[in-house]
Amino acid sequence: MAQFLAVSNRKGGVGKSTIAVMLAHAAAAWSGRRVLVMDLDTQCNASLMLVGGLSWERACRAGHTIADYFYDRFDKVAQDESAYVLSDVGDVAHSRSSPGRVSLLPGSQRLEEIQGELLLKHSKKDLHADAVAVQVRGRMKRLMKHFGMDFDLVILDCPPGLSFAALAALDLADYVVVPFRPDFVSQFALDRVAMLIERVETAEQLAAIAHSERRYACLANCLNGSGHERLLIEQLALDHPLLKARLPASDSIARAFDWEEARQTMEAKYGDAMPYLRALHDEVLGDARLREKAA
Ligand SMILES: Nc1ncnc2c1ncn2[C@@H]1O[C@H](COP(=O)(O)OP(=O)(O)O)[C@@H](O)[C@H]1O
Ligand SMILES: [Mg+2]
Repeated sequence: MAQFLAVSNRKGGVGKSTIAVMLAHAAAAWSGRRVLVMDLDTQCNASLMLVGGLSWERACRAGHTIADYFYDRFDKVAQDESAYVLSDVGDVAHSRSSPGRVSLLPGSQRLEEIQGELLLKHSKKDLHADAVAVQVRGRMKRLMKHFGMDFDLVILDCPPGLSFAALAALDLADYVVVPFRPDFVSQFALDRVAMLIERVETAEQLAAIAHSERRYACLANCLNGSGHERLLIEQLALDHPLLKARLPASDSIARAFDWEEARQTMEAKYGDAMPYLRALHDEVLGDARLREKAA
């Protein structure tokens, strides 16, 4: 059974999709993991980064996206779900002798619309709106969990909003990486996502949970090395577990956003950001919650 790693923050533009894809490439290349990236954001950036625009549009036309998967399989017993998955994606070349590969369950701009349709469909049977919402979320979580059978690691690229799929992903995750850019608004966003992950209502309840017990860790991204920035990070570390690994603002990371037709080595793709990605991979994949469970 796979481990589930979510990359989440209530803020957009903090590097969630970039980091989800970087960790997918790294886990396949360096840990030999069979990785599935599940794109839960209607912006579909992770999909575009892993297969490019043309293949993503083809998957949409064929009805092979995450929205189609939820819709088609909602009321049915599990069948072969591999039709929805694009295998061996990304623009990094992997060693033939290693099982490490990246697959993608493509994102869809229709995910939220489909969520609304499912809600409506099931409202007819059940009068309590809350109960229906819980039911739809629970079913989405089980449908997501189903993919755990065929992979070693499932990376959930979450949207900033609180769609059912996003909540189901946070519920399912063994571990959550929360990227942030150190600025004044980031503290507020981190508090909110932390309360969701730890399933508490107030900051006091959150504070009562030891950092070592928490299911998430924050990742400082886009650093420029200023003293002001260091101060903000130190402040955040008082309230939240923080990864030792950090990512600088880097042209190599920004460029990695663009999918290339020709496959490259990890070194060529991530350039001078490689040592940072190595440290991030080692720390996140080395976490006890993401280590492969003994068969
Ligand atoms: N460390 C970094 N250095 C340079 N640019 C970055 C870095 N991290 C993210 N970016 C850029 O920031 C933008 C937003 O990143 P993205 O991963 O789409 O964020 P999110 O998924 O949180 O919305 C993208 O253009 C991406 O290339
Ligand atoms: Mg994104």
